[in-house]
Amino acid sequence: MTVAIDALRPHLHGLRPRTGIVLGSGLGRFVEALDVLYRVSYADLPGFPVSRVSGHAGELVVARASGTPVIVLSGRVHFYESGDANAMRMPIETLAGLGIENLILTNSAGSVREDLPPGSVLRTADHIAFSGRSPLIGMEGDDRFVGMTNAYDAALAARMDAAAARLGETLQSGVYMWFSGPNFETPAEIRMARILGADAVGMSTVPEVILARYFGLKVLAASVITNYGAGMTGAELSHAETKEMAPKGGERLGRILLAMLEEDADGAATG
Ligand code: HPA
Repeated sequence: MTVAIDALRPHLHGLRPRTGIVLGSGLGRFVEALDVLYRVSYADLPGFPVSRVSGHAGELVVARASGTPVIVLSGRVHFYESGDANAMRMPIETLAGLGIENLILTNSAGSVREDLPPGSVLRTADHIAFSGRSPLIGMEGDDRFVGMTNAYDAALAARMDAAAARLGETLQSGVYMWFSGPNFETPAEIRMARILGADAVGMSTVPEVILARYFGLKVLAASVITNYGAGMTGAELSHAETKEMAPKGGERLGRILLAMLEEDADGAATG
């Protein structure tokens, strides 16, 4: 039981949100499409880590998305900020403690494939934890041996694909490869990622997927492609480009998520 759970419970307005959403770099605008009931800065939540990465709001929002109650974590803390793969444990443990069952994780990523241009949305079918770090290192007990065969929930994935199809939006799926960052990859690393089966590369999310599975949450994840991987175009990569490009694909990702959650408001599947 985290202290933040007690602090947050009175702000749920009697709702029982079953869906949590983590918004990555440049994707915070999604909150503007929601009916916000309560918002609080991570800095005011006991035990929550505060990100110092520009483009990350660092606030928890209780809201209705298309009528469905949700808890949004706008902004995350990354492994590269401290070297701690467990940095998001408190926020994810808090969501689980508040009754969240489904966790939707979003991020910005680089494409490894010519046919996956910037602006695309890529649902994560699977991942490669290339950084080699698990957030569960140092934990005790048999629960730490978390199975990752079905890390990404098939039913949530099917619902996202169906929502995109209803909207006529193209949604691809593929493998996300987690590099530690904060430096971008080299061209050789991008070629390696492609050979090893990656479709996209990024600096986040994978530790959160592992933590979410540890806490028994079902996971859906998606990337907004902000750039081609290093060496694919000759251009140098930058965080400024990530921040500039993310809202473009982010708008499309937001529409798909809202369409998916609308279904919940009707059918009460995760309301
Ligand atoms: N590499 C790693 N992380 C990223 C990239 C990239 O090219 N683009 C956005 N996040």
